[in-house]
Amino acid sequence: MDIFEEINVKGFMEEAIDPTLDLFAEIEKLKKQKNAVILAHYYQDGDIQDIADYIGDSLGLSQQAAKTDADIIVFAGVHFMAETAKILSPGKKVLLPDVKAGCSLADSCPPHLFKKFKEQYPDHLVITYVNCTAELKALSDIVCTSSNAVQIVESLPKDQKIIFGPDKNLGAYVAKKTGRDLVLWNGACMVHEIFSREKITRLKERHQGVKLLAHPECEEVILEMADYIGSTTGILKYATNSPDKEFIVATESGILHQMQKENPDKTFIPAPPNNNCACNDCPHMKRNTLEKLYLCLKNELPEVTVPEHIIKDAVKPIERMLVISAQLGL
Ligand code: 13P
Ligand code: SF4
Repeated sequence: MDIFEEINVKGFMEEAIDPTLDLFAEIEKLKKQKNAVILAHYYQDGDIQDIADYIGDSLGLSQQAAKTDADIIVFAGVHFMAETAKILSPGKKVLLPDVKAGCSLADSCPPHLFKKFKEQYPDHLVITYVNCTAELKALSDIVCTSSNAVQIVESLPKDQKIIFGPDKNLGAYVAKKTGRDLVLWNGACMVHEIFSREKITRLKERHQGVKLLAHPECEEVILEMADYIGSTTGILKYATNSPDKEFIVATESGILHQMQKENPDKTFIPAPPNNNCACNDCPHMKRNTLEKLYLCLKNELPEVTVPEHIIKDAVKPIERMLVISAQLGL
C-alpha cells in the first residue's frame, strides 16, 4: 500500500456514519448499484454473516471467488483470504473492510525464511495451507485448506516427499491421518492454540456424552479428545446432521452464529480457553464491522492488490487445489 492509499484508508475509516442509517438497506442498495458480492467467513460477526451473499469456509470462499461474475468482491474475512480472491479474479476489485485484518498463522511464516527452509529440502513438494501470504503461495506447489488437506496429500504418490506449512497442528494431524512423514513448518494460529484440555475434560464430565467438535488447527492434545475434527463447514454440517442436542465447539466463536441459526433447538458450548478472556474470538477477523463494511462498499476502499509476478506464481498452486477438490467432489 503506498502513502496515498494509506491516507485514503485512514480518512475513510474515520468517516462518521449517521447513526439512524439502516446499514443493512444501504449495503443492499450499494451492492446492486455496484454489482458487488459479499463473501464472508464463518468467523465474522453475525450481522456480517447475515448480509453476506455467501458464507463459507476457506475452500468454499475460494471456489466462490473463482466463479463470481460480480465487478467487486467485498471480502469479509482476513487479508490472506482477500489476496486469494484477487489471485483467482485479478480483473475484479477486491475490498477488505479493515485492511489491518491480518492472521497470526500467516504472520508465523515469513516468506524469506520459508524460502531458506524450502532450500534445505530440494526434492520435496511444498503444500501450503491457504492461511498464508500470497508470497508464500507463490513458493508452493499445491495449496490446501482444512477441508481438503488430507485428500490433497493422499492424491500424491506414497513416496513423494512433502514439506507442509505453515500450520504445524494441521500438518501433524494430516501426517497422522495419512501415515505420511511430512516436514513441518513451525507455525500456528493464536486462537486455536488457546483451548484448555483440563477445562474441556471437566466440561465433558459435567455434560455426560456431549461431543467435542474441533478444528484441525487445534493442538494434538485437544484433537485427541475430539469426537469430530473438520473445517468450519465440516463442524457446522456435523452438528446439523447429528441427532445430538449439545456440543462443545473448539474453534473461533463466530461459527456459533450459523450453528445456532441452523439448529435453534441445540446447545453449543464454546470450548474454554486456558485463561479467562474471550480468547476464542479472532482479533483479526473481528476487526471487520458492519459499519466498516458499509464504508468499504461506499468508498471502494481499502482495496487489496497483489503484484502481477506474485499472482503469476501463486495462482498455479491454488488452481491445482481447486482442480483436485473438484475431481474429488469437495
Ligand atoms: P476454515 O473455515 O477453512 O476451516 O478455516 C479456518 C480458519 O482459521 C480461517 O482463518
Ligand atoms: Fe488466522 Fe487463526 Fe484468525 Fe484464522 S482464526 S484468521 S488462522 S489468526
